[in-house]
Amino acid sequence: MCLVVLAIVALAVPATSTAAAVHRRPTKPTFIIQDATLYSFNLTKSKTFLNTTLRVTISARNPNPRAGIEYDTLGIYAAYRDQQVTNFADLVHGYLGPKKVVTWAPALMTGDGEDVPVTRAQARAVGRDLRAGLVVMNVTVNGRMRWKVGSRRSKKYYLAAYCPAYLRASEGKSGGVGGGVKYQLDQGCSVTLSP
Ligand SMILES: *[C@@H]1O[C@H](CO)[C@@H](O)[C@H](O)[C@H]1NC(C)=O
Ligand SMILES: *[C@@H]1O[C@H](CO)[C@@H](O)[C@H](O)[C@H]1NC(C)=O
Ligand SMILES: *[C@@H]1O[C@H](CO)[C@@H](O)[C@H](O)[C@H]1NC(C)=O
Repeated sequence: MCLVVLAIVALAVPATSTAAAVHRRPTKPTFIIQDATLYSFNLTKSKTFLNTTLRVTISARNPNPRAGIEYDTLGIYAAYRDQQVTNFADLVHGYLGPKKVVTWAPALMTGDGEDVPVTRAQARAVGRDLRAGLVVMNVTVNGRMRWKVGSRRSKKYYLAAYCPAYLRASEGKSGGVGGGVKYQLDQGCSVTLSP
């Protein structure tokens, strides 16, 4: 009796999971930030503007064995304490086949001659972080994507990947950080998809 029940369960489980797999959308891409180099992170003399320059190496992987990923738009910027502090840089994109990986190394910087305005509270936070020797950048990727299986394409999804980059920093003579030290991070990013 017990064996019969077990046999039925054993048959039923693969059947339901196959049905679920057909209806489930393919897996979302994974992003990893491999390293980051901070070239400048400092306030102007008046402490009202912030100047940030960094370069990151970031890669995206399509984990699906059958579904390709088509990116319509893809860009990246760095945020510090919930504020965008660099330009939005385009990432070269297009079709990423099943199990394929693509790597970029964009330069992220404050626009030329247009440092980011900061509040006094943010300026104090910059000072604190530099004294503590740790700056956390929220490297953010935004884009639109869809899956492609054969000639079938899914609807478009809005993609956001958040990659925390923990950078050691020290307050220099100019009240900022420099030197261009590269930090190995190999840090996974959290990826969200929304309609
Ligand atoms: C920001 O800092 C970089 C590196 O020190 C420098 O080249 C650039 O001119 C600065 N930008 C502004 C607007 O001051
Ligand atoms: C990065 O920004 C996103 C969106 O604002 C936020 O949800 C996430 O918690 C931030 N991550 C870090 C490490 O600050
Ligand atoms: C910011 O830091 C960079 C690199 O250390 C330095 O060249 C630049 O003069 C600093 N800018 C200010 C406004 O302190």
